[in-house]
Amino acid sequence: MNDSPHQPVLYKEIIHALQPRSGGRYVDGTLGAGGHARGILEASAPDGQLLGLDVDPQALALARKTLAPYEQRIHLAQASYTSLSAQLAQLQWDAVDGIVLDLGASSMQFDTPERGFSFMHDAPLDMRFGPSALQTAADLVNKLSERELADLIYQYGEERESRKIARAIVRARPLQTTRELVAVIESVSPRRGDRVHPATRTFQALRIAVNEELASIEEVLPQAVTGLRSGGRLVVISFHSLEDRIVKDFFREHSKDLINPPYEQIYEVERKATLKEVTRKPITPSDEEIKNNPRARSAKLRIAEKL
Ligand SMILES: C[S@@+](CC[C@H](N)C(=O)[O-])C[C@H]1O[C@@H](n2cnc3c(N)ncnc32)[C@H](O)[C@@H]1O
Repeated sequence: MNDSPHQPVLYKEIIHALQPRSGGRYVDGTLGAGGHARGILEASAPDGQLLGLDVDPQALALARKTLAPYEQRIHLAQASYTSLSAQLAQLQWDAVDGIVLDLGASSMQFDTPERGFSFMHDAPLDMRFGPSALQTAADLVNKLSERELADLIYQYGEERESRKIARAIVRARPLQTTRELVAVIESVSPRRGDRVHPATRTFQALRIAVNEELASIEEVLPQAVTGLRSGGRLVVISFHSLEDRIVKDFFREHSKDLINPPYEQIYEVERKATLKEVTRKPITPSDEEIKNNPRARSAKLRIAEKL
């Protein structure tokens, strides 16, 4: 998660994992404000290169400023990390030394009220990371059936009260603003003391759905493995258990040979392991980092190395 005014999440750990070197080629698939990217460029001076991607034009503009001193060594594109293979082909980079993915929304996005990510501010129900997303949170809230909404809030928000919330949303719609949505959620799931705000999980669920976050992670991981040179590293920071599970399962599966795939897995063929897990257990921020940047508290870093 991004960072300004804080240091990027798990900054030292990311740089340590990637061991950037002069002459190396690196990808930051989630540029944000460019904090991790700057660290990679500094550590790979004088001539390490970096490809930086973000779907959000505002993030890209911010990163362009942060990275101005390294202009000669960067290639930035407003594009999804799901287009990683195509982006590498365009640069004629056949293998890179390291790839970083720092998933989810940035502090800049959370803290820009009109983007609609935060239930603390009133704004249109948007929640798109970038203009290429096909639908806004308002589209989902107003168009899905009660059943679809309940499933979405349950699956992506891990919200136990999903049915109640979906029913209340359907009764109250059309809903256009974050404040309207928060009021509907609070009407069936009142605030209790200092526990997490009752809208937290529903907002998370809508954001994940609007930006197709989980499908995007599944799409990029195989491309990342293909794009790395042998010994190159893939480092992924996730912020909730659904993302982390995808990364963990992928790393685990691809660090084993698959011999005699079970009959039911008709799409699987025998394959050799392509990865070595560097972290069996994820790395998490220190207490000090969490104190300085409470948004870092749920971060989990996993590292894998291409065989
Ligand atoms: C947590 S922030 C990254 C912060 C960054 N590491 C830094 O140091 O400032 C995540 C960024 O990923 C971007 N993002 C989310 N999904 C994306 C995707 N599919 N492709 C490219 N960027 C994406 C978001 O727009 C956001 O700017």
